[in-house]
Order: sequence, then structure tokens, then C-alpha cells
Amino acid sequence: MTILITGGAGFIGSNFIHRWLSKNEEKIVNVDLLTYAGNINSLKDISNDKRYIFEKVDIAEKSKIYKLINKYEPRAVINFAAESHVDRSIHSPEAFIRTNINGVFSLLEASKDYFFRLNSNKKNSFKIIQVSTDEVYGSLKEEEDKFTEQNQYLPNSPYAASKAAGDHLARSYCKTYGLPVCITNCSNNYGPYQFPEKLIPLTIHNALENKQIPIYGDGRQIRDWLFVDDHCDAICEVLAKGTVGETYNIGGDNEITNIDIVNIICAKLDELSPMKDNKYDSLISYVKDRPGHDRRYAINSTKIKNELNWKPHIKFIEGIDITIQWYLDNQAWVKNITSGDYKEWIDLNYK
Ligand code: NAD
Ligand code: TYD
Repeated sequence: MTILITGGAGFIGSNFIHRWLSKNEEKIVNVDLLTYAGNINSLKDISNDKRYIFEKVDIAEKSKIYKLINKYEPRAVINFAAESHVDRSIHSPEAFIRTNINGVFSLLEASKDYFFRLNSNKKNSFKIIQVSTDEVYGSLKEEEDKFTEQNQYLPNSPYAASKAAGDHLARSYCKTYGLPVCITNCSNNYGPYQFPEKLIPLTIHNALENKQIPIYGDGRQIRDWLFVDDHCDAICEVLAKGTVGETYNIGGDNEITNIDIVNIICAKLDELSPMKDNKYDSLISYVKDRPGHDRRYAINSTKIKNELNWKPHIKFIEGIDITIQWYLDNQAWVKNITSGDYKEWIDLNYK
């Protein structure tokens, strides 16, 4: 049997593929366009594994997606592919509409066509997972309860709005056509193979390069951080046991302010790779705030804990050490990325 995932050359997708192959005999097809965020080097170690197949395809190209789904006849489709960076969505939202909305539409259409032709046995075991984010729920005030699956969708950035639209389409294909869809809404992930434009890898990268570490606004915004392996395990549980038509919130029970995260990273780097005559926190620089910046995200994961028996295993203090050590050990991976048009974007964003 085979599962087909999209966006497997990105941060969470590549971690998912590594984890999948370490635990399963089943084949995995990775459909990825290799945008700036897709990195084939993240999958170098498994590129010759017979259980792994790579297809360079845009998920918004419906006819190609039809062909791939019919060719591989997967028992499941997991959609990780997305434009995923909020700052980029503020500067240039168009790609977000194409991938996060039209791309989801095309995956749903192709899956529907395929699903209707399956025999009843195969229909019963088929599932689509739309991997989404807590950002669709908008922003919480400090005293408000964490997001549950009942929260209204109130997206504030073009990224969050495009993911919300994709989720709505996925839900509608389940309700209208009976397509077996589950949606997962996860909090901020961190770990190996994350592109160094997101807070944690950018902080590590800039520190090691002796560059300013930008903190947007007052740095008191809160995110609920989850180690990427825990997210991948949650998706596997939803694939194995999730009820069709349901949404599952996934979070780390781990709310931390941005400035605290950056200070933790700086202190760890002071220990592991000290600067010559200074401390890394001397690089911290408060910059203009992100427009529409969400103040707080926090996830209530009670449903997935109770119904699917999932819980996060990696504490932040362990996960951040693993992550920092990974970036120290994989500077070649980082250099490969930062030698491309990376600098152009970073200069534009932090002007
Ligand atoms: P990422 O930006 O690191 O990777 C996205 C991947 O999708 C890349 O490999 C890219 O090449 C591919 N891609 C982009 N457009 C494509 C297209 N049109 N066709 C085919 N492939 C395309 O993203 P990530 O951080 O790994 O996030 C994966 C998913 O998880 C996304 O759907 C995101 O919304 C969701 N999510 C991410 C986080 C997080 O903290 N990173 C948290 C919750 C949910
Ligand atoms: P990010 O990693 O972009 O994830 P998201 O916006 O999806 O939560 O940002 C995490 C938090 O860190 C967010 O509040 C914005 C903030 N941030 C900074 O303060 N400086 C930075 O350089 C970046 C990239 C993010």
C-alpha cells in the first residue's frame, strides 16, 4: 500500500517522511514543487530508499494531480504543501491563494474523482488529511481560554486566511460529497530542517552569523510551541484512528513569549558555541512590529488526547537543545539555503 503526501520537501513534511520510513514498510510518495521552502537536501539520506518516491509537481495543477493519484492509487493523501510564512503573505499574498486555496481545491477534486471509483473496501480505508494551523482561529487575549475545535475561524493574516479557505473547502467536500477528510490545526512547530526565516531557526542562524536578531514589536507575543516529531506522530494517529469529518487541534501546552524563546536560544549558544568577547543576547534588536500581528496562540488538545490517545512527548527544554545542536551540526544544510535568493528576502523584510 502507498500513502501520498504533498510538501514533503518542506520542514514538517521532511520530518514526517523520515519518521514514516523509520516506522513503516509502506511506500510514501512525496509531491512537492520545490519552492524556495522545499529542499531536496533534507531528504538526501533516504533518496535511494525503495519505499520513497519523489514527484516534482505543483498541487494547483489539477490534471497532473489527477494523474499522480491514479498512478499511485494511495490509501491516503496528506496535504502538507503550503506557502507558510506570514511575513511573505503580507508582502506577496498571491502565491498563498494559489497553493493554499487552489492547490487544496485541486487535491480535493482529484481525490473525489479517484474515491468514487474505489470499491467499498478501499473506500472504507481511504482518508485525506488537510494539515492546517491554529492561526485560522485568530488571536487570543492573555486571559482568554485556549483554542478548541469549536472556536470560530477569525484569520488575521493573508496566510491564515488562505489556510482557513483551504480548510473550509476540505470540510465542504466531506459534507457534500462524503469525501473522508480530517483536518488538523496545529500550533507553531520547531525542530530540524526548518527554513531559517521562521523565528527559531532565524535566531540561531543570525546569532551564529553575528547578525542582529530581530524582535517584532515588544516581543511579548505568545506562541504554543510543539516539537515537530510530536506533530508528525499526531498526524499518524489521525490517519490511523481519526474520525472522518472531524477536526483535531494539536498543541504543545507550551506557551512562551518570543523574547523568552530568543533569550533561551542565546543562553544555549553562549554555552555551546560562545562568541569571542560578547554574549549572543547583545545581538537582539527590537524592530517595527509585523502588521496585524497576532498577540497569542494557544491550543487546547483535549480532544486528540482523549479520543486518539496522543500527547506531546518532547518538553521544550529538550526539543530546543536538539534543534540548536542540529543546526550547529548541519551548517552545510543552512549555508546551501542562505546562499540563494534568501538574502534578498531577508533584507526586504527587515528594512
Ligand atoms: P514549509 O514552508 O517548510 O514547506 C512547504 C512545502 O510545500 C515546501 O516543500 C514547498 O516546496 C511545498 N510547496 C509549496 N507550494 C507548493 C505547490 N504549489 N505544490 C507543491 N508543493 C508546494 O511549511 P511547513 O512549515 O513544513 O508546513 C507544512 C504544513 O503545516 C503547512 O500546510 C502549514 O500551513 C502547516 N503548519 C505549519 C506549522 C509550522 O509551525 N511550521 C504549524 C502548523 C501548521
Ligand atoms: P514565525 O516563526 O514567523 O511564526 P508565526 O508567525 O507563524 O507564528 O513567528 C513566530 C513569532 O515570532 C511571531 O510572533 C513573530 C515573531 N518573530 C519575530 O519577533 N522576529 C522574527 O524575525 C520572526 C521571523 C518572527
